[in-house]
Amino acid sequence: MTRLALTVNGERHVIDVEARHTLADALRERCGKTGTNLGCEHGVCGACTVLVDGEPARACLLFAVQLEGKSIRTVEGLAQDGRLHELQRAFMEHHALQCGYCTPGFLMLAAWFIERYPQADDEQIRELVASNLCRCTGYQNIVRAIRAAADRRR
Ligand code: FES
Ligand code: FES
Repeated sequence: MTRLALTVNGERHVIDVEARHTLADALRERCGKTGTNLGCEHGVCGACTVLVDGEPARACLLFAVQLEGKSIRTVEGLAQDGRLHELQRAFMEHHALQCGYCTPGFLMLAAWFIERYPQADDEQIRELVASNLCRCTGYQNIVRAIRAAADRRR
């Protein structure tokens, strides 16, 4: 076991992990943040996307021991003071989810994107969402939701 300290959604966690544990394992099993879903566990689907020091990352591809001192943002950190993040509201309003399994990954990817590129056009949003897989929605409504949240932020 290795002991490491992480900040998750602004809260410090000191956890013990095995060398084989991924960031997703650490978040789910050691930090109690089960909102980060695992799909392929091979870096393909994006369901496990979180932000590591502000940048999107596949939590299934990083070993937890690599992340000493890092700041992680997960889907649990989006809502503030009981109020949903604008992306969460937009996903609801535009019916951008069905089963919802992929949704935390899309939300974290989109949170990074609209904070960095609030002026992005639909083409850029389509390129963004191509990195994550959704088996249910067909993507149109996900693009609409991200568009709406970015517009609100401008
Ligand atoms: S579970 Fe990490 S990319 Fe699919
Ligand atoms: S809403 Fe079901 S996989 Fe995306």
